[in-house]
Parts: sequence; C-alpha cells; structure tokens
Amino acid sequence: MSTRLILIGPPGVGKGTQSALLHARLGLKTMSSGDIFRKEIEAETDLGRMAQRYIQHGELVPNGVTIEMMAKRLRDEDTRKKGFVLDGFPRTDRQAEALDEILFEMDMGLDKVISIEVPEETILHRLAGRMGCTKCGEIYHSRNKPPMREGLCDKCNGPLFVRTDDQPQTILERLRVFKETTEPVIGYYEKTGTLLRVDGSVGPEETYQEILAGITA
Ligand code: AP5
Ligand code: MG
Repeated sequence: MSTRLILIGPPGVGKGTQSALLHARLGLKTMSSGDIFRKEIEAETDLGRMAQRYIQHGELVPNGVTIEMMAKRLRDEDTRKKGFVLDGFPRTDRQAEALDEILFEMDMGLDKVISIEVPEETILHRLAGRMGCTKCGEIYHSRNKPPMREGLCDKCNGPLFVRTDDQPQTILERLRVFKETTEPVIGYYEKTGTLLRVDGSVGPEETYQEILAGITA
C-alpha cells in the first residue's frame, strides 16, 4: 500500500521530526520544500541564491518556482510506488490548487493532511534550541534532544549547524506568514474531509502514534 500524506503546521511544530519517523518506519518518500531550498542554497545554484533572499527574512519563496521544484519531485516514479510525505508544501492556496492538478494528472489522491498543533510559546522554545546535521539532516535540540557529543551527529558524525532563519526576529516573521497565508490552506483541506489534527506538544513518539492511528483508522 502506498500512503500519501501532507504535514502542515507553523515553524517548529515538528514536521521534519515526524517526517523522518514516517520515512524510517513506513518507508515513505519524504519531500521537504525547506530542505530542498537549503540544499540549493548550499550548492550555490541560481534557485538557491533566489530562494535565500526570501528565506533569510522569513518570507515565502514565490509560488512559480516552488511549484515547479516540487512538481518535478512528485512526478518521480518512486512517489507512486512508495507513497510520500510532503513537509512544508503546499503552504499557499495557489500551491494547494497546483498540487491537486499534479495528483489528478498522476491519477493519485491524498490520504491525510496532518495538521500538527503546538502552543506558540513551545514553538519559540523549540526553535531557539534546534540544530541539524549538515550531512544526514537529523534534527536535534539543545535540551529536548541533545546529541551525545557536542556539535556532532549521533548517526553519521557530521557537524551540526543552526539555521540562519532561526533568529528571533525571523521566527516571528515566519509565524506571521504562517497565520496569514498557510492557515487558510488548513481550512481548504478541512472542507475536503482529509484533515487530521494531531497534538504536537507531547513527545515525538506520542505524536507519531497519534498520526499512525489516524492514517490506519
Ligand atoms: P521549512 O524548512 O519548511 O521551515 P518551517 O515550516 O518554518 O518549519 P521548521 O523546519 O522550522 O520546523 P518543523 O516543523 O520541521 O520542526 P522540527 O521537526 O525541525 O521552511 C523554511 C523556509 O523555506 C520558509 O520560511 C520559506 O521561506 C521557505 N519555504 C519552504 N517551503 C515553502 C513553500 N512551500 N513555499 C514557499 N516558501 C517555502 O522541530 C523543531 C525543534 O523541535 C527541533 O529541535 C526538534 O528536535 C524539536 N521537536 C520536534 N518535535 C518535538 C516534540 N514532539 N517534543 C519536543 N521537541 C520536539
Ligand atoms: Mg522542518
């Protein structure tokens, strides 16, 4: 069976954390628009340079390039075979419509759109302590999930880094953009009956179990 999921929610609710669990345990292909942009930035491509201008200020990258980038990955044969988890896409009405069109062309539907919900003060605490592995992408937190050796990934030994958009002012702007532009997308999926709301304020394992129960129900 191939499962097709979207993870949606404000910055720092645990989309990346849950997406990694869904990949490790269910073998779903994960596609994070934010991670793809960060790889392009690191590789200093034209797309990366353009995206960086928006990301560093907490603004959304324009719809046209974002949709084109995600469409290319969605049309991959793997997506059909393994199923997928979209993390951070769609986050505008236009992106949600484009995704509907791509899936229609591919004759595929969505199983669940999972809205992860966490109080705002928890989000600020989480993003303030987040670190990621430059090599394998594993996500850590200075207090909630510290690495065994400071600055190094437990899994692959890669050096850890702090995202440039995890500065207090940029976090506030990302939250504002979420409320203004992405929250309406949750309403859109609520109407289609595919929405599953889960509590992201408990531990990652509890949230994962809630997702699992919701997608297998
Ligand atoms: P993106 O990379 O998608 O960032 P985001 O949506 O702001 O979300 P985050 O990655 O910050 O948080 P997360 O929910 O993944 O949380 P995580 O699991 O890391 O986007 C970045 C930028 O790219 C955007 O601002 C925009 O500019 C651009 N962009 C991306 N997609 C776009 C699109 N579709 N259109 C246009 N522009 C786009 O967890 C956070 C921390 O909390 C970690 O330290 C983790 O260890 C900890 N944690 C997680 N879960 C728990 C838990 N249950 N209990 C305790 N701690 C936990
Ligand atoms: Mg993320």
